[in-house]
Amino acid sequence: VFIPIITVDGPSGSGKGTICRLLSQQLGWHLLDSGALYRLTAVAARHHGIPMTDEESLKVVAAHLDVQFLAGTAAEIKIVLEGEEVTDAIRTEAIGADASIVAAMPSVRQALLQRQRDFAALPGLIADGRDMGTVVFPEARLKVYLDASAEERASRRYKQLISKGLSASLEDILLDIQARDERDMNRSISPLKPAPDAVILDTTQLTIEEVLEVVLDEAKHKG
Ligand code: C5P
Repeated sequence: VFIPIITVDGPSGSGKGTICRLLSQQLGWHLLDSGALYRLTAVAARHHGIPMTDEESLKVVAAHLDVQFLAGTAAEIKIVLEGEEVTDAIRTEAIGADASIVAAMPSVRQALLQRQRDFAALPGLIADGRDMGTVVFPEARLKVYLDASAEERASRRYKQLISKGLSASLEDILLDIQARDERDMNRSISPLKPAPDAVILDTTQLTIEEVLEVVLDEAKHKG
């Protein structure tokens, strides 16, 4: 059977997460948050005392991730790792940094490949990540690449943290985003880049609603 897939790739802070959640709600399609799998690998490794340099063990952790994605209220997905809820715990900056280190390891990426493909199911899938259109779902009918300037992405992240009542430094966030971009775009395996057939959208000057409208419009045309 043919399963329609929309891939959404781009750097962190490009608005991918929000756009993918809204697309999945509006279309009633499944959602793959592939970054969560790399984050979960990092968290599980920490639980088991495995250093982020031990590729051999990290591969085993990735291959045997005991994780459940539970649909909760308001289309929020609850993430349970080894029986423990980690929905918020995987979202810290520290885990994001570890995730980008394990994500540069070929055997970790290989170990997570089939698990990601298994998310494809009717009526359709929204796939959020870095290599969804290039590697994981090269056959997707619509590929979107969301971008925004590093400054704009840092400012979005800053506002998000402040609105949650957390303290944050705009300068540190910008440095962190630049370091993560550098790692994600320059690694030898599955680097972050648009698929040749991707629709590229610079969201620096766009609202969430505007981005959503463009993507839904593209989806209609390619439907
Ligand atoms: O998107 P998110 O910030 O949750 O991803 C965390 C890290 O996982 C990214 O910085 C990136 O290094 C890695 N990642 C990846 N490929 C994906 C999704 C995420 O390499 N498809």
